Amino acid sequence: MRFLVLGANGLLGSNVLKECQFKEHDIVGTYHTSPPDIGVPCHELDIRDESGTATLLDEMAPDLVVNCAAMTDVDGCESDPEAAMAINGTAPGMVASACADRDIDFVHVSTDYVFEGVDGSPYREDAPPDPIQVYGESKLAGERAVREQHPDPIIVRLSFVYGVHGGNGALTGFPAWVRDRLDASEEVPLFTDQAVTPTRAGQAAATLLDLSQVIQTGTYHVACRSCVSPYEFGEQICELMGTSPALLNEGSMADVDRPAKRPKETCLSVETVESALGRPQPTLAEDLEQIAEAFQ
Ligand SMILES: NC(=O)c1ccc[n+]([C@@H]2O[C@H](COP(=O)([O-])OP(=O)(O)OC[C@H]3O[C@@H](n4cnc5c(N)ncnc54)[C@H](OP(=O)(O)O)[C@@H]3O)[C@@H](O)[C@H]2O)c1
Repeated sequence: MRFLVLGANGLLGSNVLKECQFKEHDIVGTYHTSPPDIGVPCHELDIRDESGTATLLDEMAPDLVVNCAAMTDVDGCESDPEAAMAINGTAPGMVASACADRDIDFVHVSTDYVFEGVDGSPYREDAPPDPIQVYGESKLAGERAVREQHPDPIIVRLSFVYGVHGGNGALTGFPAWVRDRLDASEEVPLFTDQAVTPTRAGQAAATLLDLSQVIQTGTYHVACRSCVSPYEFGEQICELMGTSPALLNEGSMADVDRPAKRPKETCLSVETVESALGRPQPTLAEDLEQIAEAFQ
């Protein structure tokens, strides 16, 4: 079985490449600005490029395409809504259509930010989406376009993604910021009034590949089982590092002025993926333990 991973130098994409390597799948990737250092053949592709996508699909003839490419800068999406909609909203539908035309399976990655974050958490897959910023609107448009253009896509929604990059081995995302501040003995302001189910990129990569082997189609929430505030996430990082939490400061989302609104509580229910795969998703502590070395 041949896999094609779009956005292979991103945090999730690089982990999908590594997981495919580990499982000895035939694997090809695409990158946008720079190729990942993983030892997998990778081709340059902007997912907005319809003819480039078609040519690549014809040349590579994959059995399955995994779309990890996206404009993920939430504030950047707010200031450039056209680019956000083109990359996150329109392009996934175009790629899905090209895959459908060639009878190629398609896995698309989306986000908890399709939800408003008020009174719905933990969100099940069938909860009504209602995004409150351009990023979430563009990702919801992408989900809808994919469902319109492909007869049986798999869509996985992730939340607060972090992990070790599959290419350069760097700890990436929120825990890296917390670790670096603690290492520098700087205070770490952390929200106590936001709730998320953090997704470790390596765990999500393995899970979406497992899903693609056992599931025909559908939408799945893939995250850890623990619904935590960033402050509680910070406490678990301190524990892992053997550091006192004295530098953690309780903060509120209202303390920070950012261009894009953030939802308050977007914990994802993971019951559906657990029952599909017949195994529990990890807790946050179990996920962190898997990358404990990155905190030493
Ligand atoms: N990060 C989170 O907290 C989070 C939360 C929930 C869901 N998600 C979703 O998870 C997926 C993977 O995100 P991630 O965390 O791995 O993000 P990431 O590290 O920012 O990776 C995104 C990748 O997409 C590539 N890309 C951007 N524009 C592109 C374009 N026009 N054509 C082709 N590739 C393009 C980027 O390449 P360049 O850097 O070279 O431009 C980058 O390698 C996305 O669908 C995202 O929406 C992320």
